[in-house]
Amino acid sequence: MSSTPSAAASGRFSIGGDLEVNRLGFGAMRITGPGIWGEPEDREEALRVLRRLPALGVDFVDTADSYGPFVSEDLIAEALAPYGRTVVATKGGLTRTGPGVWPPVGRPEYLRQCVLMSLRRLKLERIDLWQLHRIDAKVPRDEQFGVIADMQKEGLIRHAGLSQVSVEEIEAARKAFPVATVQNLYNLTNRASEDVLDYCQAHGIGFIPWYPLASGDLAKPGGVLDGIARELEATPSQVALAWVLKRSPVMLPIPGTGKVRHLEENIRAAELALTDAQFAALDAAARAA
Ligand SMILES: NC(=O)c1ccc[n+]([C@@H]2O[C@H](COP(=O)([O-])OP(=O)(O)OC[C@H]3O[C@@H](n4cnc5c(N)ncnc54)[C@H](OP(=O)(O)O)[C@@H]3O)[C@@H](O)[C@H]2O)c1
Repeated sequence: MSSTPSAAASGRFSIGGDLEVNRLGFGAMRITGPGIWGEPEDREEALRVLRRLPALGVDFVDTADSYGPFVSEDLIAEALAPYGRTVVATKGGLTRTGPGVWPPVGRPEYLRQCVLMSLRRLKLERIDLWQLHRIDAKVPRDEQFGVIADMQKEGLIRHAGLSQVSVEEIEAARKAFPVATVQNLYNLTNRASEDVLDYCQAHGIGFIPWYPLASGDLAKPGGVLDGIARELEATPSQVALAWVLKRSPVMLPIPGTGKVRHLEENIRAAELALTDAQFAALDAAARAA
């Protein structure tokens, strides 16, 4: 492995057919305070993490207006604007009423405000990828999809995506706008979204697995990944990321961290090639666990 890792080794994916990024990205939820509320405990380290991304070949950064709220988008703009080749994907549609609390609000006028305020915070004229954080069950979903289609036509957003959805919901949304990405919980040990992943792969939709390290649990020694990690002289978190990257060419993992040390460790996963046998052994062990 080289001394400076590069996300470029993960290969490229074209979001919406025309927005190319390296597949291994960065999730910017963890650069906020406890409960994803307020400023991070170590603000300078959070800025160092963000500023390190371009040198590590990370050109895909996932955030949301609700992270902080606003703190993550503000820090991204402070560290990285103007963005050059970095694609910042954000999300809207969740409100914050306290640490760890995320009530969805999908009224079209609120979703429009989310986009306009993210544009302002991120210092952008257009958002490359805007994702509906959750479909709000209290609002007809076609109204939510309709305003996204309108904002895309108006040029406020370039590509649009969904988060935590079923195949049926993706198909309903695709009647209103081209769904470029889907962001669902997925990792080696939580495979509830296999059908959604297969659907995304069949339709060229980027699949963004959130929680790829199960919030650090998959990075702990002694787990299912340990044996193969030792075989490869890698860490469990690197093996967890290498496994999702190998699972599908539409996979765009966005591991999150507030520490440069963990960031560099995670990006090194792009260079880790699992054999088919190692991939299958991990799959079997995770299913058995
Ligand atoms: N669409 C949605 O509903 C949704 C929901 C949740 C998250 N997301 C997105 O997905 C991204 C990733 O999800 P996530 O942050 O919940 O989970 P994750 O990436 O699976 O895990 C992040 C956690 O693991 C720790 N960690 C990271 N790298 C590590 C390493 N090498 N060794 C040991 N520990 C490590 C981090 O702590 P340290 O800070 O100490 O490194 C952090 O607590 C988020 O940043 C966000 O952008 C989306």
